[in-house]
Amino acid sequence: MCGIVGYVGSVRERSDAGDLDGDYCALDVVIEGLRRLEYRGYDSAGVAVVADGTVQSRKKAGKLANLIAELEEHPLPSTLTGIGHTRWATHGGPTDANAHPHLADEGRLAVIHNGIIENYAELKQELLAKGVKFESETDTEVAAALIGDFYRGAADGDITKAMQLAAQRLEGAFTLLAVHAEQPGVVVAARRNSPLVVGLGDGENFLGSDVSGFIDHTRRAVELGQDQIVTITPDSFEITDFYGRPAQGKEFEVSWDAASAEKGGFPSFMEKEIHDQPAAVHDTLLGRSDTRGRLILDELRIDPAELKQVNKIIVLACGTAAYAGMVAKYAIENWCRIPTEVELAHEFRYRDPIVDKNTLVVSISQSGETMDTLMAVRYAREQGAKTVSICNTNGSTIPRESDAVLYTHAGPEIAVASTKAFLAQITAAYLLGLYLAQLRGNIFSGQIKDVLADLNKIPEKIQRVLDTTGPLRELARSMKDEKSVLFLGRNVGYPVALEGALKLKEIAYLHAEGFAAGELKHGPIALIDEGQPVFVVVPSPRGRDSLHSKVVSNIQEVRARGARTLVIAEEGDEAVREYAEHVVYVPETPPLLMPLLTTVPLQIFAAELAAAKGFDVDQPRNLAKSVTVE
Ligand code: F6R
Repeated sequence: MCGIVGYVGSVRERSDAGDLDGDYCALDVVIEGLRRLEYRGYDSAGVAVVADGTVQSRKKAGKLANLIAELEEHPLPSTLTGIGHTRWATHGGPTDANAHPHLADEGRLAVIHNGIIENYAELKQELLAKGVKFESETDTEVAAALIGDFYRGAADGDITKAMQLAAQRLEGAFTLLAVHAEQPGVVVAARRNSPLVVGLGDGENFLGSDVSGFIDHTRRAVELGQDQIVTITPDSFEITDFYGRPAQGKEFEVSWDAASAEKGGFPSFMEKEIHDQPAAVHDTLLGRSDTRGRLILDELRIDPAELKQVNKIIVLACGTAAYAGMVAKYAIENWCRIPTEVELAHEFRYRDPIVDKNTLVVSISQSGETMDTLMAVRYAREQGAKTVSICNTNGSTIPRESDAVLYTHAGPEIAVASTKAFLAQITAAYLLGLYLAQLRGNIFSGQIKDVLADLNKIPEKIQRVLDTTGPLRELARSMKDEKSVLFLGRNVGYPVALEGALKLKEIAYLHAEGFAAGELKHGPIALIDEGQPVFVVVPSPRGRDSLHSKVVSNIQEVRARGARTLVIAEEGDEAVREYAEHVVYVPETPPLLMPLLTTVPLQIFAAELAAAKGFDVDQPRNLAKSVTVE
């Protein structure tokens, strides 16, 4: 969680400086970066600049707008060295005092932090014994004091050295950035288990939790490895390990631009991202098969002979990504006949799972930084499993720590509630399943070709769903005062029901639950009362194995007990009309691929209902986009 930005620039003409034409100072860059990173946490925000031999800072509880108002009232000088932070609170509530930056070395050192320092209590005792005074309840202030202590002591006034020495003592997860009054033109950062990327400019350099922190200025970036320190000046960046030994980062070019991170005329990022879904699915499919219908997943750099040995697949993820994993299970087992389990990463990590070299662990993560998922992947690797990550964020930690990665090409997802990443994750998982089936000869190449052809038709079908949302939006607005909504589905419709419920909980703060429709009679049906809204994801009536009639029976069961039935069904399924108060039709598609269509109306429903309640759809309370603590 937490967004971090750092900047060092030099005095020069900056005629083609993107959004911030002409002259701009560190504060402009930092605030702009924080605006883009605010999705990572918005409990408080703060900045510090180095000016005339001093460090000056401002910080404020609440959203970035509060900090901006504070800066208007109490401006900071225009300088060329600055850092900024937007917080998702871990240690200490979201107050002004607990906001970052935290100062040390008598106000000459400013530090910001993303992560959790696990041994902070012990370090705090040591520092208290040395006479250090603390003003906040945060672990970050302890890190700042430690860096300050080394700066005045063993590091002898060298901020990079002080950071290295401090990092050696810290346990847990951290990205730390520091500036010192005596070292203008320098920002130093340390990284362990939390994200950090360097942006390379011309006469200026940047640091960000991810590239959106500096995307207005440069697309050249360097991803930092685990346990590394980087020192940026306007003309250089130098990477070492925690012991000062030279180290390498990995340079890459950011493939998306600043415009993709803007709302593009939609009322919220979430709405924009829902509408980005045809492109997200299309781009994720792009270039991954040939005209003969063969999968080409060159990026999957695991020896095919080893993949053939795989006798178990475990999909690890959290939240929405785990629901994508559930969809993947149905597809992979169907196409590859490999037993596939889906497990919440945090549950997997802390039991004693059975994993060996013939286990393929597939992690799914939009951010690539979810700590629960990262820890589970690490653990699986230690046990000898092969690990593939399905991820949307280039340069993030989970793909870097996996044997191979299959990127989803959904583009930046800014709204906290995941939408387009979900569909892209499902798409990538289908590709992986088909690839394994191809490799192991489980299904005929003609069948793979047919599935690929069906997948290629999905973007246009999603667009059709998006083009006809009027009545659904009206329904959502009319339901803004509901107290509870239930969701039912079977087979691949079950994770869709879970996802529909999660979206509603997250952004509309409305009680919502998803159930496997077959489970209804085993308990949940007791919840049904007069007027209880129930969404039902109905499978296609086509095909021999269709579960259509079973789900229609479930609709009748809840309706007989007074429920309002709201149905998502396939075009042409006239039978459901009789039992439904409201039907949303989606285009015909093979049953396994249906989640790519049936999810969309549920996303729209949640977004519209939350907006009708007047909530901030993009930044729901208590949540952060990237959950980088366990
Ligand atoms: C829900 C949502 C979360 C994430 C989960 C995993 O809308 O966004 O449930 O899916 O926190 O995040 P990633 O995919 O970044 O690992």
